[in-house]
Amino acid sequence: MPRCSPYKTINKFIKLYTQNDIWYLFSMKNVELIAYVISFIITLAIAVHIFNIIYGAFPWKTFDIKDETVEEGRADVVEDGEVGEVRIVGNVVYLPLPRRVSNVSVEEAILLRRSIREYLPNPITIDQLSMLLWAAYGVTDTRYGFRSSPSAGATYPLEIYVVVGEKGVRIGDEKYLRSGVYKYDVYTHSLRLVREGDFRDELAKAALDQPWVREAPINIVITAVFERTTRIYGERGRVRYVPMEVGHVGQNIYLMATALRLGTVVIGAFYDDWIAQIISASENETPMYIVPVGVPKEFRETTFEDIQRFIESRRG
Ligand SMILES: Cc1cc2nc3c(=O)[nH]c(=O)nc-3n(C[C@H](O)[C@H](O)[C@H](O)COP(=O)(O)O)c2cc1C
Repeated sequence: MPRCSPYKTINKFIKLYTQNDIWYLFSMKNVELIAYVISFIITLAIAVHIFNIIYGAFPWKTFDIKDETVEEGRADVVEDGEVGEVRIVGNVVYLPLPRRVSNVSVEEAILLRRSIREYLPNPITIDQLSMLLWAAYGVTDTRYGFRSSPSAGATYPLEIYVVVGEKGVRIGDEKYLRSGVYKYDVYTHSLRLVREGDFRDELAKAALDQPWVREAPINIVITAVFERTTRIYGERGRVRYVPMEVGHVGQNIYLMATALRLGTVVIGAFYDDWIAQIISASENETPMYIVPVGVPKEFRETTFEDIQRFIESRRG
């Protein structure tokens, strides 16, 4: 039996790691070799763990998926004004689950998308809010937890808030979500009440008094935690990737709102610090967009024939 002192073995490992001397492996005794392999696996596991703690995710991370039975065929389309199941536990609102809600094709949604700034004094439904948030940043991949909007290196630097007005979101017959500022959690598809009260008037003032912010039943506010992206991509993350990603989210909200026949507009003109204070954002969050959503006073109907005529008249 070869004698193997732990001190000598550790010394050899240190030498191996520091000098990267692969040939040294072959001069090892069996026991040492096994110990080395085990130590290597443990070191690798610790490194992966530390990486996970620092970066919050790693590419091969998978999510537990419940073995759900998916019914064949198309899901039912949600009728106008229908309210899905909502569960409220303390300050957390578990939104109705994402599902097929319209028969509007992507090309129709793109055709009909318009910035709409005039809304009826009507609430939107909790189902509509659920679909808007899911379209904005919800999970669309059960293996890695990827989202509806693309993100550089899947760093997901954005946070989504909803400023709900008094009787702004209907959750049942004559029942409404408490007015307040809510933060969206993508993985549980839920909203957590951050501040109670109707803050639309203050939000509008902080957005250079744009009336549509005050009049919309809800405003989605998108903030960015730049460091999530800049620690990997540096300055390019700050000036390019994060602003691009906010644009993707904005467009998704536009298209989902259009499919739901709701009206919306993205707003970039506001005082950052004031908005951050209203929604109680953390120090490292920068407000990027305010997106009011409401039932439009008018929904303009453009047809593909209109567009075809427009293009053809310019071809000569
Ligand atoms: C980055 C950005 C910032 C914007 N900021 C505002 C804004 O502060 N207020 C507003 O009413 N519309 C704002 N808009 C909406 C534009 O005015 C609108 O997209 C444009 O008039 C074209 O109309 P459409 O969206 O219907 O195609 C913004 C759009 C973008 C892309």
